[in-house]
Amino acid sequence: MDFLTDAFLIDPNRINGPVLVTGAGGCIGAWTLAILSRSGVPLVAFDLNEDRRRPALVLGEEGAQDLLWETGDITDQSCLNEICDRHGITAIIHLAGLQVPFCKADPARGARVNVEGTINILEAARRTGIRRLVYASSTAVHGMPPGGPVISTLYGAYKLANEYTAKVFWLDWGVPSIGIRPNVVYGIARDQGMTSGFSVALSHVARGEPFEVAFGGPASWLYAGEAAAAFIAAICRDGEDAPVFDLNGTCMTVEDAIALLSDLAPDHGVTTTGTVLPIPADLDDAPIRAHLGDYPSIAPADGIRDTLRAFRQLASGGSSAPGA
Ligand SMILES: NC(=O)c1ccc[n+]([C@@H]2O[C@H](COP(=O)([O-])OP(=O)(O)OC[C@H]3O[C@@H](n4cnc5c(N)ncnc54)[C@H](O)[C@@H]3O)[C@@H](O)[C@H]2O)c1
Repeated sequence: MDFLTDAFLIDPNRINGPVLVTGAGGCIGAWTLAILSRSGVPLVAFDLNEDRRRPALVLGEEGAQDLLWETGDITDQSCLNEICDRHGITAIIHLAGLQVPFCKADPARGARVNVEGTINILEAARRTGIRRLVYASSTAVHGMPPGGPVISTLYGAYKLANEYTAKVFWLDWGVPSIGIRPNVVYGIARDQGMTSGFSVALSHVARGEPFEVAFGGPASWLYAGEAAAAFIAAICRDGEDAPVFDLNGTCMTVEDAIALLSDLAPDHGVTTTGTVLPIPADLDDAPIRAHLGDYPSIAPADGIRDTLRAFRQLASGGSSAPGA
């Protein structure tokens, strides 16, 4: 599966020591681990449990087994502190979180994980003097406060709280951070969340099954590798202040994506409901690129081709990984 991450590898000298990656078992986490690990950057993966199946999708079984992995709950401050101290962590990529449906199903747990968990990460950085910290916000913040054209969610409210909290940690204690708001991420290992439909569709194509994507029209297409590359670029130098950036990728309709798919798999059986997503589709990536410097970008035609190729390899190998 090296073809998935070849375009995103970095010079390990750009990173100043062991990187803690929270939410390591998730989609963006899997890609982040794979890129850092293949680049030779020391890292510690952190998640609630030791489910290495998504990282294995991107990195292969052997590479995933070799990862240094710590389990714990992001809501447990002392656990995080102990892990940072024991491994001499110098940079943090904070991705652990609960997505829209999970926050809606259990609002209090959603707040503990998404808000308190981020506070714990900021506290760990404050305590140990870490100056390279990036955390995942979301374009869902554009729906807050309610009343605009964009959907309002508890998830968006929690992510917005994190952005303000990070700013106050900078103002009160000089803890620098960068918040990145990914839009719709697609690619291998994107198997959950309200916008995972096209990625799930590609896994169905690989197995020869039809699939209806629950949204259509214009959408953001942010390749998972490109999202991970932006998070990694954010810890390549010491931070200053607590800026926040949208991360959109390309704007394209789902219908055009299905047309691209037809070139790769004429009998794909993928359809769309045509229902337009109530989230912005065309946010500007120029500010994040200006701040971070350039990081690799992948056109949807290439991202869709690579994702289908990977799902086909997994299907022929009988993989039981999530979404494969
Ligand atoms: N995927 C997207 O399209 C998208 C878009 C915008 C923002 N984001 C944000 O980016 C981050 C990563 O997204 P993703 O798609 O990889 O998410 P994901 O749902 O695939 O993975 C999240 C990971 O966090 C872990 N986690 C949950 N609760 C935890 C806890 N209490 N302690 C430790 N770990 C815990 C889960 O086990 C999971 O492995 C999340 O914060 C998400 O909100 C994602």
